[in-house]
Amino acid sequence: MLNNKLEKALNKQINAEFYSAYLYLSMSSFLNEINLTGFSNWMRVQFEEEQFHAMKIYDYVLERGGKVKLDAIEKPPYKWKDVLDVFKDVLKHEQHVTKLINDLTDLAIQEKDHATVNFLQWFIDEQVEEEANVSELLAQLEMIEGKGSGLFMLDREAKQRKFIAPTE
Ligand code: FEO
Repeated sequence: MLNNKLEKALNKQINAEFYSAYLYLSMSSFLNEINLTGFSNWMRVQFEEEQFHAMKIYDYVLERGGKVKLDAIEKPPYKWKDVLDVFKDVLKHEQHVTKLINDLTDLAIQEKDHATVNFLQWFIDEQVEEEANVSELLAQLEMIEGKGSGLFMLDREAKQRKFIAPTE
């Protein structure tokens, strides 16, 4: 059984993951508006990944006999300067999520809830991967200054991304 503190914190993280999904969906729509349909697809996959993250925690709370309390999702921004601006925001957001996951893990350690510490390990690894992927993409976008034929090529590549639900 989850204690109250952890139940509350995990519920907060469900909300944060749904906010991430919402943010990336908003970015996906913006990228579509500026005719970067490949990056729009990439961001839509990101949206699906975040929903998966939220549901993974949702299922865990239920599995541990906790109560899921869904809260309102904050309104995301809907306008950026350009594609570089979008990806700078993605990296900043993922760094913020990493901090949330680390804080949550600290709390689970403090509460001596070993099962939750173990559960959160998946998210710790996932954040390393997310930050690395976004940093790489951002570096490539910076290399081509977010324009020209380089952008066309990266956009075409981004179109190939597909959501594959992770298996353990
Ligand atoms: Fe759910 Fe992108 O972290």
